[in-house]
Amino acid sequence: MRIVMIGSGYVGLVSGACFADFGHDVVCVDKDAAKIEKLNAGGIPIFEPGLDALVAKNVAAGRLSFTTDLAGPVGEAEVVFIGVGTPTRRGDGHADLSYVHGAAREIAAAIRGFTVIVTKSTVPVGTGDEVERIIRETNPQADFAVASNPEFLREGAAIEDFKRPDRIVVGIEDERARAPMEQVYRPLYLNKSPILFTRRRTSELIKYAANAFLAMKITFINEIADLCEKVGADVQEVSRGIGLDNRIGSKFLHAGPGYGGSCFPKDTLALVKTAQDHDSPLRLIETTVAINDTRKRAMARKVIAAMGGDVRGRTVAILGLTFKPNTDDMREAPSISIIQALQDAGATIRAYDPEGIDAARPLLDEVTYATSAYDAAQGAAATVIVTEWDAFRALDLGRLRDVMAAPVLVDLRNIYVPADVEAAGLRYAGIGRASERDPADVREAAE
Ligand code: UDX
Repeated sequence: MRIVMIGSGYVGLVSGACFADFGHDVVCVDKDAAKIEKLNAGGIPIFEPGLDALVAKNVAAGRLSFTTDLAGPVGEAEVVFIGVGTPTRRGDGHADLSYVHGAAREIAAAIRGFTVIVTKSTVPVGTGDEVERIIRETNPQADFAVASNPEFLREGAAIEDFKRPDRIVVGIEDERARAPMEQVYRPLYLNKSPILFTRRRTSELIKYAANAFLAMKITFINEIADLCEKVGADVQEVSRGIGLDNRIGSKFLHAGPGYGGSCFPKDTLALVKTAQDHDSPLRLIETTVAINDTRKRAMARKVIAAMGGDVRGRTVAILGLTFKPNTDDMREAPSISIIQALQDAGATIRAYDPEGIDAARPLLDEVTYATSAYDAAQGAAATVIVTEWDAFRALDLGRLRDVMAAPVLVDLRNIYVPADVEAAGLRYAGIGRASERDPADVREAAE
């Protein structure tokens, strides 16, 4: 099939490369000439494991190309995906659809012959109708169908998620879109990934409902973790104990500093707005958003408590800046609020991240960036694990303790066994763990 992907960001680039790998002819289009130039020179604008090799392989095979010219490739295509950004609109929290609408206008003017136009970006319910209206108004002669095909891939595991999805969701209003969409996903279809065809508005809502549910699940376990600390229970075991119930499921029950990233914060907010507009408020999600917002700064208070209540003039080592491991993405990363709150309380920050430092620099003032975890910990009165990079999972704890000014490890991702940390001579504070020490105890140790 001849496929065009409009927008070469995270979703566009990964989906485009994977479709090419399925054997389709794919042209990725982007307005950003510098990005296209970089891609054409063999560079990848984002950090995503395996993506460079996948792109190189398919470019070499002649199935994948990059251009700023939309009209030419769209005129040749059977299926055109819209994978442009839908950021939060300034002021009201709604999704900003100006890029989607702009793409629809340009596609309308360029299509020739029957073409399926598919929204892959996460778009609010009703966007497909709007795209259809724009295309019809711009080009009354156009022969087309508009489908919705939300993408569920996660950053850091994008290729695996794309190629082995739990399900593929396709929303259509015009039956003529069904066969081409089946054809696009044929390799997955043959591999028994279920394809769910629904009406278009249903498909659009499935994406938001999925993200909101997952954000709510994380927020639920985060609140249970807080309670664990109060009652002397262990959230890791609570998580396992409830997750083994198939009706609940074990995934997304890992307590931490709050969810971040390019999707959950933006999509939960947009869904709340849509629901309010339709006078059908989603109170669970409204509360989820509010709890998660306050949680990030609350993590700084946790660090301060672990350090005995005062951080003025003391150094805090931050391990991990990106919102999750295996990405260089800093969007809505909990590290940002945590670092700022610690700085407000008078702390000096030394930070290390395997991939995120370049993206962090413009966002965070007065942070010293270190070259390794041990370098960050040099002279620190506490080391705080904010992102669970593999590189932080097997630290030499004795070495860490030796370079620090006070032996305190705050593990906001619960990647260490408290007893192991304590055996290495460090005080341990995790999230919702029974072995949390009495703050007075920790203060004494930190002095
Ligand atoms: C998410 C969805 O998973 C994906 O389906 C959608 O397409 C885009 O949004 P992503 O943002 O890449 O993907 O990351 P994900 O792995 O879902 O993590 C999101 C946030 O939740 C991260 O900040 C992560 O640290 C946090 N999280 C996740 C937890 O705190 N606990 C968990 O158990 C899982």
